[in-house]
Parts: sequence; structure tokens; C-alpha cells
Amino acid sequence: MNTTTETGLAGRLAWSMKQSFLRYVARLSDGRCSATDGAEPSETEGFTFEVSAMQATNHGLSLAFRGDLRFSGHHGALFLRIADPAILVDGPHGTLSIAGGDADAPRVPLATFTAAVDSSGPALRIAGTGLMLTEAGSELFIGIYPPGEPLDDFTVEAAHHAPASTAAEPALSH
Ligand code: HEM
Repeated sequence: MNTTTETGLAGRLAWSMKQSFLRYVARLSDGRCSATDGAEPSETEGFTFEVSAMQATNHGLSLAFRGDLRFSGHHGALFLRIADPAILVDGPHGTLSIAGGDADAPRVPLATFTAAVDSSGPALRIAGTGLMLTEAGSELFIGIYPPGEPLDDFTVEAAHHAPASTAAEPALSH
């Protein structure tokens, strides 16, 4: 989906996180998954998170997304929240972080990835591959997935919203 946010941006992060984890939660008798506040389930891409910020940094790109994805099961013993993901891309390397547990908690670096950025079209496109769980990410999964555990690939598509009367602007100027 490609709605325009009040920030004048349109686009999304599409990510299935980790298929085997989704299957695991789905198999639990009380397994639940919710996607709200900018996150939505997608039939083909797992989940989408709406873009909320995009900027060029000294070394690359920074994009933030809105959305609250929650998994629960085992009668409350299992609870996992993947909220407001953001990516930092520096050359071919990237880091994906998520919001910390509390409102004022620092963000948690969840995974590193290899980035392929395509800024040739009207929308910026990023393919994130080779995602590997960080140490902090491993702790979220109570160590069941060790650091380095592969997560699913993701794609990002984002563009500054062009006013209806003008031609689409390039997503970024370098
Ligand atoms: C009462 C508590 C729990 C029980 C009885 C339990 C039980 C299990 C069992 C039996 C499996 C293997 C399932 C399979 O291979 O199909 C499993 C896998 C797993 N559990 Fe739990 N679990 C509990 C809590 C948690 C918690 C708190 C987390 C934290 C996120 C968690 C994360 C995982 C993960 C990541 C896997 C591997 C899924 C995969 O195949 O990729 N579990 N658990």
C-alpha cells in the first residue's frame, strides 16, 4: 500500500520478519499477532510499516517507519513487540532498529543487513538482504535465536509526495 502520510512522504517497509517465528506463533493454541498504528499485515510481504521520515545523512540514508507489531502466546509468557522500525544505511551496510520497550527507552538495534539502494526512479527503493540478528536482538528472543541468526529480507519504497499539479520529484538529491 502507498498512502501519503502527514509528513508528505509516501511509502513503506515490507518485511516478514522471520517466517519460522510467524509459523511458530501461528501454531500455538493461544498464539496472537496484531499489526496496528501504521503496520498492516500483507498477503504477500508479511507486514508493511508506513514511512514516517527519510533523510540523507553524511554517510548514507536514514528512514523511519510507523507501526506496532505484537506477538503473544504461551499464556503471557511470550510477548514480543516490533515497533517503529528504522533503518540506517551506510554504503552497502545497514542497521535495522526498533523502538525500546518504554517510551523513553533507547532504540534497540535488531539486525544488520546488506543494502542495495536504487535512487534512480521517482521513488527510492532499498532491498535489505542478509539480515543478521544483533546481540540485543537475540535478547529479545530470550537467546533462542543466537546473535547472527538470519532474519527475512525486506524491501523499502519511499518518495516525497509530489503535489498533484507538479511532476514527481526525485526521492533524494545527492
Ligand atoms: C511457556 C513458555 C514457552 C514455551 C513452553 C515454549 C516452547 C517452545 C517450543 C516447544 C518451541 C519449538 C517449537 C517448534 O519447533 O515448532 C519453541 C520455539 C521457539 N520459541 Fe518458545 N516457548 C516459550 C516461550 C518463548 C518466549 C518467551 C519466547 C520469546 C520470544 C520464545 C521464542 C521462541 C522462538 C524464537 C522459537 C523458535 C521458532 C522458530 O522455529 O523459528 N518462546 N518454543
